[in-house]
Amino acid sequence: MNRITTTNQSESTNREPTAETVHTMRIITTSGQWRHELATLGASSIGLVPTMGALHEGHLSLVRRSRIENDITVVSIYVNPTQFNNPHDLDSYPRTLDDDYRLLEREGTDYLYLPDYHCMYPDGYRYRLHEIELSTILCGASRPGHFDGVLSVVLKLLAAIGPHRAYFGEKDYQQYLLVDGMVKAFQLPTAIVPCPILRESSGLAMSSRNRLLSSEEKRKAPEFHRILDSGTSIEGIRQNLEACGFIVDYVEEHFGRVFGAVVLGHVRLIDNIPRKPEARQECFGSEVHTC
Ligand code: PAJ
Repeated sequence: MNRITTTNQSESTNREPTAETVHTMRIITTSGQWRHELATLGASSIGLVPTMGALHEGHLSLVRRSRIENDITVVSIYVNPTQFNNPHDLDSYPRTLDDDYRLLEREGTDYLYLPDYHCMYPDGYRYRLHEIELSTILCGASRPGHFDGVLSVVLKLLAAIGPHRAYFGEKDYQQYLLVDGMVKAFQLPTAIVPCPILRESSGLAMSSRNRLLSSEEKRKAPEFHRILDSGTSIEGIRQNLEACGFIVDYVEEHFGRVFGAVVLGHVRLIDNIPRKPEARQECFGSEVHTC
């Protein structure tokens, strides 16, 4: 497997390695820098892990998978404003770049892509990607415009990096399906790889937003997963969540999975659990079949 040895400081930024560093990760901030790097690499496969930072083991599991399956792994960190329909949510989104950097370097990430708003939205978001069916249910119903922002930014990231594979967590299962559908709809040359949900030992799905929970909310949060996974009816799950003190946005079954979104304090939590073993085989009307 190729590892990066290039030392061209003028094209990308190198930080001083720390004692725990086992690998030098390079930072790129524009697609032009990446194209320059790519020309020197001779890599036969590129894996991309798009993130918004505040990294945890769930993100790192995607990075590990990419490292196994590709010569070069690029991780992007960009807190994408167009997918936040609530300005307070955007302002309070955790930002931990120094920690993220250390974690990614320790994982052997080759490149960290850190674009800014101007680089991602030179058009000021006049051009955007809009799906009209799957994006209107579940999180799309309560977060208007959210998936336009997600799909637009993911398309831009895929265009900028040109990965052979891009890694998405099943924690955001609706997002994964929409991105996969977009790639098929536009015949983009990237394979979208779904990755299993990583959970705390309590069952709580790992999430950047978990760090916004108070200590009392942290104690209560695992009940979300426990109730969602209890095997009771959809209505029973909703009632039990409400009885437990969660504000329920939705509990619904689709694609053989139970999906839930709740608010605990000021924090929105989402999760989904396979309802039946054959869950993945089920079709939804808007699934995109390629020729
Ligand atoms: P973010 O929430 O940072 O998540 C980045 C990726 O990590 C997503 O594919 C998400 O599903 C995955 N992930 C998060 N928690 C996980 C867990 N507990 N187990 C497994 N995978 C997990 O999702 C986004 O960012 C953004 O919408 C993005 C795709 C980057 C576009 O802005």
